[in-house]
Amino acid sequence: MANIVPIIEADDIATEVTRLGALISRDYAGKDLLLVSVLKGSVVFLADIMRAITIPYTIDFMAVSSYGNEKSSSGAVKINLDLKQSIEGRHVLIIEDIVDSGITLGYLMGLLAARHPASLEVCALLNKKTRNEIVIKPKYEGFDLPDAFVVGYGLDYAENYRGLPYIGDLRD
Ligand code: IMP
Ligand code: MG
Repeated sequence: MANIVPIIEADDIATEVTRLGALISRDYAGKDLLLVSVLKGSVVFLADIMRAITIPYTIDFMAVSSYGNEKSSSGAVKINLDLKQSIEGRHVLIIEDIVDSGITLGYLMGLLAARHPASLEVCALLNKKTRNEIVIKPKYEGFDLPDAFVVGYGLDYAENYRGLPYIGDLRD
């Protein structure tokens, strides 16, 4: 059995998600907002933040891979699922679970920016700032994390542990 040490409890995640949802609701009021969720890690965060946002919006999904079953980025990003719609003229907010090297988001933002959205921003629940190789400043940011590999609340290690209600440090 893996050794997983909780570092962010479910209550604290809920408080933070409520705070982020309120900010987004304020900033995007009256705008055509599209939440783009990056599969699979961000689905739990998406489901919660959807219920914390009080203004109208639509959602869509993308899937990218960069990791395989390793704990650090391969550097290469592959698009496995693309958006079903045009984002031209729309206000796009990428919903991400975690920013590590920033390579995945950097790639995604370049790709989406080329499609001429009205705006393009990031909402990331977690950011391992000391590990950022590409500087991405999410407009909305939850917790700054130390250099640890975390699981739970959607995040996996080799597809496991996504259902944990808290975020834990995976130690082997
Ligand atoms: P980046 O391209 O290095 O920023 O990595 C981003 C992606 O790697 C995230 O969207 C996650 O899917 C995955 N990832 C990065 N750090 C962790 C972690 O600590 N636990 C689980 N997945 C992670
Ligand atoms: Mg992810």
